[in-house]
Amino acid sequence: MTKLNKAIIPVAGLGTRMLPATKAIPKEMLPVLNKPIIQYIVEEVIYAGFKEIILVSHSSKYSIENHFDKSFELEATLEKRVKRGMLKEIRAISRLNISMQSIRQGEAKGLGHAILCAKKLIGKEPFAVILPDMLISKNKGNAGDSLKEMKKNFEINETSSLLLGKVKKTDISKYGIAKIRENSKSPELGFIEKIIEKPSIKKAPSDLYAVGRYIFTNDFFKYLSKVKPDKSNEIQLTDAIDFFIKDNKKVYAFPLDGKIFDCGENIQLILANLEFAMKDPLMRSHIKNYLKKK
Ligand code: G1P
Repeated sequence: MTKLNKAIIPVAGLGTRMLPATKAIPKEMLPVLNKPIIQYIVEEVIYAGFKEIILVSHSSKYSIENHFDKSFELEATLEKRVKRGMLKEIRAISRLNISMQSIRQGEAKGLGHAILCAKKLIGKEPFAVILPDMLISKNKGNAGDSLKEMKKNFEINETSSLLLGKVKKTDISKYGIAKIRENSKSPELGFIEKIIEKPSIKKAPSDLYAVGRYIFTNDFFKYLSKVKPDKSNEIQLTDAIDFFIKDNKKVYAFPLDGKIFDCGENIQLILANLEFAMKDPLMRSHIKNYLKKK
């Protein structure tokens, strides 16, 4: 059994789709209710059982590391004001049961390049990649159930995998679209036959898209480092996955269990806030009353 301990979270992206909100604040620090998006993502990774997070970051993103660091001044103030509940919550953020390191992505050369930046910190181990703007919500169970399942499967089968959701036709050109091998006999959706980054509706091989949870064997780096930059000079993770599969490497497809919100988009961030607010009885009744008057 191979242990899978490390998870890469690439947070170097500049969040241009969310400007001007993201001019001075990382998109990962935008809130869903009273928590920044990145905290949900880190909690998902911890729940799935990882031991180490590697943030691939950018000079403008220091507030992400600060968020998970101890804030001595804030803790002292909360203690003085006897805000015990809040103090406990704030302390818990910097005492997470996981180690966190970060490395910089000096150039904006795409998601594949960001993952390559973490190669040294991964060493010879397998690793997961978790995209921080894709927020999962479940009514029953935990948002990290899918990732936990993928991790468990890896530790038994030592096979790479990714999580797929169903996408509306109109959104196909925003994501990596995968084709599942027919008649494959695996306990999951099956093995992936090919994957294309942001195809047109015409060229899309299915309506299944990569939702941003990946697990790779260490030799995946070899393929990633050979991928040529695309038209926009970006190294695409999807291209490396396709290259990997074409070289007869197996990649399982897991079905997304729950809903997912692409918080890099304004409307999706609003919907994510609504989704999480509706889980709280008080907020739910406020929202319902508000909507009744509209
Ligand atoms: C990236 C990946 C894409 C994936 C998507 C999920 O695209 O390249 O394959 O489907 O994340 O959010 P990006 O959102 O960085 O354009």
